[in-house]
Amino acid sequence: MDGNGKTNLLIVDDESTIREVLKRTFEERGFVCSTATNYDEALEKLEGDCFDAAMLDIMMPGRSGVELLGAIMEHDRDVAVVMVTAVADAQTAINAMRLGAYDYVTKPFNLVEVVMSMERALEKRQLLVENRNYQQRLEETVKERTDELRETFVGAMSSLAEALDAKDPYTNGHSKRVTEISVVLATELGLDESQIEKIRMAGDLHDIGKIGIPEAILNKRGKLSDEEFECVKSHSERGEKIIEPFIRDATVRAIIRHHHERFSGGGYPDGKAGEDIPLGSRIMAVADAYDAMTSDRSYRKAMSPDNAKAQLMANRGSQFDPEIVDIFIMVENKIPFCPVSARPKSKT
Ligand SMILES: [Fe+2]
Repeated sequence: MDGNGKTNLLIVDDESTIREVLKRTFEERGFVCSTATNYDEALEKLEGDCFDAAMLDIMMPGRSGVELLGAIMEHDRDVAVVMVTAVADAQTAINAMRLGAYDYVTKPFNLVEVVMSMERALEKRQLLVENRNYQQRLEETVKERTDELRETFVGAMSSLAEALDAKDPYTNGHSKRVTEISVVLATELGLDESQIEKIRMAGDLHDIGKIGIPEAILNKRGKLSDEEFECVKSHSERGEKIIEPFIRDATVRAIIRHHHERFSGGGYPDGKAGEDIPLGSRIMAVADAYDAMTSDRSYRKAMSPDNAKAQLMANRGSQFDPEIVDIFIMVENKIPFCPVSARPKSKT
């Protein structure tokens, strides 16, 4: 359509009489018409203008109308094309319809039929375009809703993780602090915003698997039995499984699964070592340990930040990625940790 809502029609025929008759006929009915005498001229017009419809003569000197149809479909498959052919060419016209033409008229033609054929083609085109737009809108809506659902789930899981932390005064706010520290480290490491977003999500959810661990074990004051310890260790795998149906991002799931691996190997659940451990998990291991050490626990008081840093240094290269420990020490003043004195007091 042009700016006035009129249909732009391209008429291609090597016979000037036919071009003129068709042009006049369609212009009388409000179409805006351009004409071309052959394939090359038609292509030039197509490059320079946007057409809603085209009438193409099949038999033309040089390249045929069927070849032109192919070029038009490649250029814009929404152009409503009606082929014009001699009676003997009916089979070619039918083939042209298979290639994307909407209809064909045979010469000598009745102008009323030609107009009707073009109007039918335009109606059909309109329906197809509307249908496609509807499908597209539908797909977009489904995607939006799915994303919303996913976000809602991730939000609910984060709240659940927070609630889980808050149930125990010793771990209150732990996941959030681990996320904040991890984000500072990731930023210092030069990770991009999308990687940082994954670390943020994984940080909030890194201990979500503890939902599956009995509270009697989680809150036990004394030393855990081997069996109990095995149960606690299962939280990283459980966490990955809990989020799996909703978080498709493999990196986020991997960070959660491996946040208790040790840099020198021998951690859990897979005993990975070095750079086989996802970078996000190596970052989180440092953040997690630092926050745990500087928080009160039922069986010990919080360590001072200096002592916690000394512990990180002592385990640099064994439990922790040395590069990440170095970065932690370097940017320690940027770590938004909650001062130990401001943490919630234990019940004891
Ligand atoms: Fe954990």
